[in-house]
Amino acid sequence: MIKASQLTKKYDEMYAIRDIDLDLGQGDLFGFIGPNGAGKTTTMRIIATLLTPTYGEAYVCGHSIYTHPKEIRRLVGYMPDFFGVYDDMTVIEYLEFFAAAYRIAPQARRKRCNEMLEVVDLDFKRDAFANTLSRGQTQRLGLARVLLHDPAVLLLDEPLSGLDPRARIEMRALMRRLGGMGKTIIVSSHILPELADVCNKVGIIDSGVLIANDDVNSIIRKVRPNVVLLIETADPSQTEAAAKILEQQTATDSVEVKGRQLRVLIKTTVEDYSDLASALISSGIRIRKFAEEEINLESAFMAFTKGAGAKI
Ligand SMILES: Nc1ncnc2c1ncn2[C@@H]1O[C@H](COP(=O)(O)OP(=O)(O)O)[C@@H](O)[C@H]1O
Ligand SMILES: [Mg+2]
Repeated sequence: MIKASQLTKKYDEMYAIRDIDLDLGQGDLFGFIGPNGAGKTTTMRIIATLLTPTYGEAYVCGHSIYTHPKEIRRLVGYMPDFFGVYDDMTVIEYLEFFAAAYRIAPQARRKRCNEMLEVVDLDFKRDAFANTLSRGQTQRLGLARVLLHDPAVLLLDEPLSGLDPRARIEMRALMRRLGGMGKTIIVSSHILPELADVCNKVGIIDSGVLIANDDVNSIIRKVRPNVVLLIETADPSQTEAAAKILEQQTATDSVEVKGRQLRVLIKTTVEDYSDLASALISSGIRIRKFAEEEINLESAFMAFTKGAGAKI
């Protein structure tokens, strides 16, 4: 859906972005993460055909930004980091204004606008003046606006910035829903962890250079290749016995006793570790907890990018 190769933008001698490669398929939700000034907006504006690169290529659904910008604009919904709403328009008037600009037929406009207000959960504000909305509601209105022409690709530039925690959660849920609808989404942020749990792919950009670009699961696997199980017996006096049994299992790499809890490293080659539970139970050990240790995505990404000298 989105392909970029060696995308480069120079301002005088300064590289805003340099040799950016991207390859995103349908339904991908790509978290584009980097500090202020890293080149996120530049990259997104080039893909939206609002800015011409100095060098490199980008395609949206097979259309080149150089030869088919009109087709691309039809396929893309671009939400800039800041956008104005007009003082004297209600929410529904604002959307209908853009629906007209998108050349949605007059008879279909009202229905389409109402549907999009429902998608972003803003129908209760349809007759409010647009400039009275909170930041979170304004962002959702902006999203409704870029969804009007049913774009296959969404480019959302820092949609979470300036939102309170609740509005962030709602916006993230909305992005997940849109990804589930099969849309390809690039969403940028300067905060590393806030996107990690919604995206399936992550790119980290620093000083115009993409220093990491992979799917979330492979990043996690690279940082920590082994599954770690946390096991607790119902009766604390069985902890040691459980450790002995677990050590003898072929799936086990190592067992560490941490107070009441056993931390079991599973061999990288093993996918199914359910035998461990059976082994414990058949030896008369009652299990209170048997779970995979959760990975802290933030530290995983930190570890992943450390070698590349990331500052985020
Ligand atoms: N029109 C411009 N003229 C000169 N430099 C620019 C222009 N637009 C962006 N830049 C520079 O390009 C770099 C990348 O900016 P930008 O893409 O906006 O970063 P981000 O969105 O990640 O904060 C920054 O150093 C910025 O100052
Ligand atoms: Mg920006």
